[in-house]
Amino acid sequence: MGTILEIKDLNIEFHDHSVPETVVFDFSMQLQEGEIVGIVGESGSGKTMTALAIAGLLSRHDITKKGQIIFKEQDLLICKRSILREFQGKDISMIFQEPMTSLNPVRKIGWQVEESLRLHENLTKEELKKRAIDALREVELPEPEKIYRQYPHQLSGGMRQRVMIASAMICNPKILIADEATTALDVTIQAQIVQLLKRLNSKKNTAILFISHDLSLVRKLCTKVIVMQNGHIVERGNTEDIYQNPQEVYTKQLIAAIPKCEKNFE
Ligand SMILES: Nc1ncnc2c1ncn2[C@@H]1O[C@H](COP(=O)(O)OP(=O)(O)OP(=O)(O)O)[C@@H](O)[C@H]1O
Ligand SMILES: [Mg+2]
Repeated sequence: MGTILEIKDLNIEFHDHSVPETVVFDFSMQLQEGEIVGIVGESGSGKTMTALAIAGLLSRHDITKKGQIIFKEQDLLICKRSILREFQGKDISMIFQEPMTSLNPVRKIGWQVEESLRLHENLTKEELKKRAIDALREVELPEPEKIYRQYPHQLSGGMRQRVMIASAMICNPKILIADEATTALDVTIQAQIVQLLKRLNSKKNTAILFISHDLSLVRKLCTKVIVMQNGHIVERGNTEDIYQNPQEVYTKQLIAAIPKCEKNFE
């Protein structure tokens, strides 16, 4: 297992107010091939900003980023835009909380799932369709041929999130970043999506950065966890070590806040 992503001393600073504001301080981590790492922490702790920086989705203008994000020997913070675009969606994909805002309501599902393939691979219409239907099948959607022709509003929230995962996975990325990807879903569907991510991870060896408020989901999915507060990493380690023996007061509070009935699961 090799390191596929290395973040060194990432700092993210906004300049859209009169006083610059740093929202992420000295964030460092390594992601190994096929590993699933959770990032937890209260609202505003800098999880999304960190994720967007890795995905290359933070504007290069009014946000200053210091440090390095090394992927395939390139620093994503300073590499050419053409290189970044080559990685985006192909090697590094991201899924978000609300699939309805990421999906285009007037485009058929199939067309949207094919998007990254159209950008990164030179395929015929028939090949695109075959890959899209395979991707929809891979996320365990029933009747993928039918869903290929449907519109987002014809699907449930859980199905739409599966569609988003299919789009994100279609180029077999090395890294999938899931930012609160299950938060808007009900508990049963959340658990199903987590199971799906686990299966995709073991089948395709995609590393996953799983950002969530839900510490019990993180425990089910992630082998390592990073705890953030106010832009700082306060604690990190193997998930079971952190959950059974948290060192920092803040981590203890987060774990104490997990509802009791969820604490003793396998
Ligand atoms: N345009 C902006 N200008 C200044 N500060 C911003 C801007 N956008 C976000 N922030 C700040 O960045 C900090 C980190 O936000 P971020 O979205 O990364 O938090 P988060 O951990 O993802 O929270 P949540 O759990 O609510 O999603 C917050 O304090 C937020 O107020
Ligand atoms: Mg967030």
